[in-house]
Amino acid sequence: MSKRIGVVTGGGDCPGLNAVIRAVAKASANRDWECIGVLGGYEGLLEPRQTIPLDYQMLSGLLPRGGTILGTANRGKFSAKVGHGESRALPIGGDGSLSIAQQLFEYGIPIVGVPKTIDNDLEGTLFTFGFDSAVACATDALDRLHTTAESHNRVMVLEVMGRYAGWIALFAGVAGGADVILIPEIPFSYESVCTKIQDRENIGKKFTIVIVAEGAREKDGRFITSGAHTKTGEARLGGIGAVVSAEIEKRSGKESRVCVLGHLQRGGSPTTFDRALCSMFGATAVELIAAGEFGKMVAFTGPQIGAIKISEAIGKIKTVRPDGNLVRTARALGICFGD
Ligand code: F6P
Repeated sequence: MSKRIGVVTGGGDCPGLNAVIRAVAKASANRDWECIGVLGGYEGLLEPRQTIPLDYQMLSGLLPRGGTILGTANRGKFSAKVGHGESRALPIGGDGSLSIAQQLFEYGIPIVGVPKTIDNDLEGTLFTFGFDSAVACATDALDRLHTTAESHNRVMVLEVMGRYAGWIALFAGVAGGADVILIPEIPFSYESVCTKIQDRENIGKKFTIVIVAEGAREKDGRFITSGAHTKTGEARLGGIGAVVSAEIEKRSGKESRVCVLGHLQRGGSPTTFDRALCSMFGATAVELIAAGEFGKMVAFTGPQIGAIKISEAIGKIKTVRPDGNLVRTARALGICFGD
């Protein structure tokens, strides 16, 4: 029987969305299924429904292209009706948009999810797509900041995203040779950070590189927010980099500068790892649909791509384990977490 799949991209954009769309469309075409793209996130499911055909003509150049050709949003009321007959909906999203997917599933919509977020904070999957690309961007930024830090004998502070998880800061910090990594999972003190800076001075290292996750906070301190709130009332994180830089300068007397990577880490072309991951995620999502395994999300369970219930992935976040492998590796290399 011929099937029709609708692909929705929800939440913030992220490198690899188009690569997943491409994989889903190709895997569908190979089964002689029809594939359509829903425009503007879940809003596009509402009447008048906004869709485009995702046929082979549409797919050229999608693999390396950033953003999403379908547009994205995660607000509004959503229609329970997704096409008709053998139609299926396939959302590609992070925690927020997968929560919407779960609600639609409970309402009876046959739905399968694909885990997207640069934050890598979704439960049930070792990696979300987009994360590796964000880490590559942050690592490149650290490489560039190193040269200025070294030339000017400065402290350079890089603020990266990640919401309440420190995955981007941790991976980029290790890969980019940071001296200090500050993450939400390990509250820090300025005494510890400044001791590290002084220790480096004592051995002739006149510069220090600090990477700080937007959700990092002092011991007994509060999250630093940019003041604005999202439409759902969630505080928007941001500004910790400037606070850390100013405090370091005040306490250590060393010149310090901050760089906020911002949305640069969420844009642009996916890395090779993300392209491969997106291709596997997209093809596996189509396999789940073929097997009738709805209400599930594809996941990197390792060593294979597997699937978990969407309900198991939402409502809680996957955070960095302070005693995990990469934190222990970082400590073994002398990186300070400010604790
Ligand atoms: O969840 C992805 C993310 O990029 C977070 O790392 C960040 O806190 C947030 O989205 C930024 O959202 P916005 O694009 O709405 O500023």
